Amino acid sequence: MNYKSLMQSRLTDEIYELLNSIGKTGDDMSYHVFVVGGFVRDLIIGKPNLDVDIIVEGDGIAFAKAYGTLINGCVKSHDRFGTALVTLPNGFKLDIATARTEIYKYPGALPDVSPGNIKDDLRRRDFTINAIAIELNAEKFGEIVDFFNGISDLQNKHIRVLHDLSFIDDPTRMFRAIRFEQRFGFSIEAHTQKLMEEAIRGNSLKNITGQRLRNEILLISNEEKPLLSIHRLSQFNLAKYINPVVHTSHDLDDLFHNIEEIVIWWKSVESSFNIKVDKILINLLAFLDQLDVNQAVDISRKLVLTNMYAEALKSSKTELSDSINRLKATDKPSLIYKNLKQFYPEVLLYSMAKFRETKDKVSYYLTQLRNIKHWVNGNDLKKLGYPEGPLYAQILDKTFSAQLDGLITDKSEAINFIKNNFSNFKQV
Ligand code: CTP
Repeated sequence: MNYKSLMQSRLTDEIYELLNSIGKTGDDMSYHVFVVGGFVRDLIIGKPNLDVDIIVEGDGIAFAKAYGTLINGCVKSHDRFGTALVTLPNGFKLDIATARTEIYKYPGALPDVSPGNIKDDLRRRDFTINAIAIELNAEKFGEIVDFFNGISDLQNKHIRVLHDLSFIDDPTRMFRAIRFEQRFGFSIEAHTQKLMEEAIRGNSLKNITGQRLRNEILLISNEEKPLLSIHRLSQFNLAKYINPVVHTSHDLDDLFHNIEEIVIWWKSVESSFNIKVDKILINLLAFLDQLDVNQAVDISRKLVLTNMYAEALKSSKTELSDSINRLKATDKPSLIYKNLKQFYPEVLLYSMAKFRETKDKVSYYLTQLRNIKHWVNGNDLKKLGYPEGPLYAQILDKTFSAQLDGLITDKSEAINFIKNNFSNFKQV
């Protein structure tokens, strides 16, 4: 079966030409080259995907270097794994790898790899729908390579492993199965589900590192509807590996639904406010919503969260509820500002989803107050003759509050405000 015309109709001209030129380089070097994995799956489903993964039957790094030179790109290779990342002059990136076989020494271990052919390379993959390749060499450009009936599983909407030891080799695939099932509205096929249940009963996840678990939950948090996957994780009794106390409930459902709305709203306005927020973090905060502060600190360590994620999580369990309570009692812009300025925007968006009563005040802070610039600074105070020291912070803070609350309306009023309120301190 040949997908050349499907590629022509569904890919942009740039990507189509890119794949063509990769095929030609393969011809020049007498290597068979293929595009594989999620890119092919999504091409067939009809979803855009810009993660181009190329497999070379031959020396993948030599191929990447030759191709990189041809297109004036930049090549970063990892010799140990036979992989390379090629960056095109326009910034587009593609992964190139030597076709390989993988052997798992023990469950959950990282595999030993050695060179192989395309069939070996596809056989080592997680699910049939991710184990389809398309040949790129000119003579067979667009030819489908589907040893494991991935296309039929795509048509029947099935997530199916390639062999019975798949989840034992790599237990993180259980998270992936759920993620793909929920993303595409597919179902985990009956035998695959049985293998999953056996792997869970056999405690196959016990050897998986915190980092690998973290990667999986971050990938789920990056999905459009993470709640669907979280429900499935709970059904399979897998959620506990990331959140030991999670229980699905109406509150949790509401929280995720609210977050979905708020993220859509934020994306529609964020370009005006110069803050790019990380949706993954917001969803992670929601998934870990039921933890108390000690459990949150433990989980941050176990999953080896970055400092920023760990801080955001901790603040969502500690200062946030106090600040939100104080917010309920005030409409003063300066107090709204003071209560919220310490939090990452992601924590604030999460708070808008969780604490509905103060939602508008948090939104007001994010969209109106957060970017307001001080009219006066330390230099102005120096020019006015104030002695440098801790007093500066006090004056600037008070003046900024007056600015936020509309008591002064421009810089000259700010200067007068300072002169009137801090005349005793002035050095003369
Ligand atoms: N893969 C695998 N087992 C894993 C991780 C990845 O077999 N534990 C294989 C799959 O064939 C997958 C490919 O490596 O298609 C690329 O991995 P990744 O980029 O994580 O997957 P995608 O399928 O591209 O998923 P997504 O659409 O979420 O990016």
